[in-house]
Amino acid sequence: MRDLSATRAHYTSSNAQPAEGVKVWDVLIRMFHWSLVILFFTAYLSEDSQETVHFYAGYGVAFLIVFRLLWGFIGTRHARFRNFVTSFSDVKSYLKSLLSQRAKHYSGHNPAGGWMVVTLLLTLGLLSVSGLLMAAGEGSGPLTNFYTAGHWLFAESWLEPVHEFSANFMISLIVIHVAGVVVSSVLHKENLIKAMLTGKKKH
Ligand code: HEM
Repeated sequence: MRDLSATRAHYTSSNAQPAEGVKVWDVLIRMFHWSLVILFFTAYLSEDSQETVHFYAGYGVAFLIVFRLLWGFIGTRHARFRNFVTSFSDVKSYLKSLLSQRAKHYSGHNPAGGWMVVTLLLTLGLLSVSGLLMAAGEGSGPLTNFYTAGHWLFAESWLEPVHEFSANFMISLIVIHVAGVVVSSVLHKENLIKAMLTGKKKH
């Protein structure tokens, strides 16, 4: 017969939630997230003064984005795109529920958060691709072998404005992203920043 005492010890008596929380973010997602934060800001802040640092931090960001795109298809439950990219009507009703102060709780990303993740990843993708194409023109990075002098794809005339726009757009997205994390943490009375460190949410 199964020993239920061990199982029971995992639950609080009041609400039958696992006392130690629910595992939501796997270790690779957490490593991805905090490495991305460090590498993105390193690249952003070194842009004017430290070209080598800027290039290597940028390659790191590009590598992380490739990993995250793959993990979105083959990763753990809450990492998969199909589990958090929802319809716009879901986003609308989630945002409405925030106003009514009865916000629906999601273990993974909520519908608005899910689309924010997609926007962050797409912008980081644009930032990485434009950066890698420019670096190739300077004989650096993984795309060097594909570099063709004079080809429009490697023309700085469009790469530079795209790279600069996506970097600045990222800053606005990060402000909204962190504000969303704080608002959601307050509304649901759970520390989402801690969850991105430990991998666990209350429920
Ligand atoms: C330092 C401030 C930051 C904090 C406190 C923070 C916190 C968080 C938290 C709590 C989540 C999970 C949200 C949820 O529960 O649904 C998350 C997800 C995410 N954050 Fe941040 N974040 C920060 C900065 C950034 C930056 C600078 C970037 C991009 C450069 C970023 C990109 C992302 C991405 C892509 C995800 C989705 C994770 C995934 O599913 O792969 N975050 N962040």
